[in-house]
Amino acid sequence: MKHYLQFSDFTADEYHYLFSRAAIIKGKFKSYEKHHPLSDRTLAMIFEKASTRTRVSFEAGMYQLGGSVVHLTTGDSQLGRAEPIEDSARVISRMVDLVMIRTFGQEKIERFAEFSRVPVINGLTNEFHPCQILADLFTYIEHRGSIAGKTVAWVGDGNNMANTWLQAADLLGFTVHVSTPGGYEVDEKLAFGGRPPREGCYKVFKDPLEACKSADLVTTDVWTSMGYEAENEARRKAFADWCVDAEMMAAARPDALFMHCLPAHRGEEVMADVIDGPQSVVWDEAENRMHVQKALMEYLLLGRV
Ligand code: CP
Ligand code: NVA
Repeated sequence: MKHYLQFSDFTADEYHYLFSRAAIIKGKFKSYEKHHPLSDRTLAMIFEKASTRTRVSFEAGMYQLGGSVVHLTTGDSQLGRAEPIEDSARVISRMVDLVMIRTFGQEKIERFAEFSRVPVINGLTNEFHPCQILADLFTYIEHRGSIAGKTVAWVGDGNNMANTWLQAADLLGFTVHVSTPGGYEVDEKLAFGGRPPREGCYKVFKDPLEACKSADLVTTDVWTSMGYEAENEARRKAFADWCVDAEMMAAARPDALFMHCLPAHRGEEVMADVIDGPQSVVWDEAENRMHVQKALMEYLLLGRV
């Protein structure tokens, strides 16, 4: 049994399989061809934080695969009344085939997985967001082909998305140019679990414009992630120069793409003319969450088909 708790849980070979499988599954969806490999299977989705894309993509995706879903939140389950996570894991995993969790600390999802009888998927933690990067990479490949040897500019917070980009670069042979304000840097120990990353898989830049130079993809995220709302005001000040604008896009390669995992705040981390402009692929990125997660769920339950 495999879990998907962080990007580094899978090998490059597994990612190549998932990308090709997601393309096939997306093709079936687009041509209204039924694909029900998971009939009679149930996915439990546990949300301890808000969501639009993750909820809709997993729920619609599981129904399209012939299965069904159970939706739980902290507020409407015993999770919010301090039932130990180990007990919740033992109980929930006796009744369903697969569990997706969005929560706060990564250690919580790891504890759940340890006591689960079924595969567990990370639907976002404070530290990582692997399903999103899976979708982002698939989107890049759809538009531009292989990402190996390419440069991704990360402008903004050294957060769950940034950490996951670093893991992906380490594994799939591309480079991330990271630019964050002082005090919000990526934590190499956290991203790579204390082991040395592949030489040259990421480079740190003080100036976000420098980070964007010759990039094949420019990407950013909110200044304040879920769970950090108390820091909102301090972050607004610290991040003022880390807004992706037309000048940063002009510094990147002429065919560079722009991505944002969404939800976005126009005029904060990205200007409207960038996110709504011709280089932006954010809507494909959001849609692709569903296609890649269908491939992921199929893989976790049935292996390579
Ligand atoms: N990108 C993403 O995970 O969106 P939601 O928070 O809406 O699920
Ligand atoms: N970094 C953001 C991503 C939201 C999808 C957060 O954790 O809130």
